[in-house]
Amino acid sequence: MVMISPSIISANLMELGKAAKEAEEAGADMLHVDVMDGCFVPNITIGPAFVKALKSVTNLPLDVHLMIREPEKYVEAFAKAGAAYITVHVEATTHLHKTVQMIKDAGAKAGVTLNPATSIATLEEIIPFVDMVLVMSVNPGFSGQKFIPTSARKVAAVKQMMRERGYDVPIEVDGGINPEKAREVVRVGAEVLVSGSWLFRHPRGLKAGVEELRTAAISAKAMFV
Ligand code: DX5
Ligand code: ZN
Repeated sequence: MVMISPSIISANLMELGKAAKEAEEAGADMLHVDVMDGCFVPNITIGPAFVKALKSVTNLPLDVHLMIREPEKYVEAFAKAGAAYITVHVEATTHLHKTVQMIKDAGAKAGVTLNPATSIATLEEIIPFVDMVLVMSVNPGFSGQKFIPTSARKVAAVKQMMRERGYDVPIEVDGGINPEKAREVVRVGAEVLVSGSWLFRHPRGLKAGVEELRTAAISAKAMFV
């Protein structure tokens, strides 16, 4: 099954609680929470207190994407706040294995993510320890950017690497996802789709957007072997 993880900060910032409930009613599988520090990426968003507040209004698993330097300083706080998945950038932490271990020890599932220009070779040693791999299909920092066309090839390469080594954790794709791009990445093995601006700006509403994305994903999944 392909999971859909709407990126909550693309919703109306004055009504995030309402947007979380809408996402749940729309049939989303997780809620993607983008945490930015103004240092690793050129933008600032929210912290653990927001995750805790979100947790109190939704039953959806919280898929927390840390775009921050030295994430090891904060993983425990995000786990305590209720994150189901905590994903860190391989470029942002010196001791990646230790950081992944800290996430798991804190009771959350651990994801690792790569910026568009980061080679998949950086995954080789960490893949046995992670619960999810996130392939960034835009440079992190802002929603509403264009999907980088080589991202589907990268997803295919990560899938191939996992197959060769006998691992099978979900590949998530984040940035510029719409039904067309969803088909491109699901066809080659993606299983979790993040979508921000496309979903929250859908002319017929979030539910229609989730359904459209899911239909696209299901048709592409049927082509994946
Ligand atoms: C980018 C974030 C994404 C982004 C998704 O820095 O990690 O999650 O908000 O938004 P769209 O789907 O608009 O690219
Ligand atoms: Zn994200």
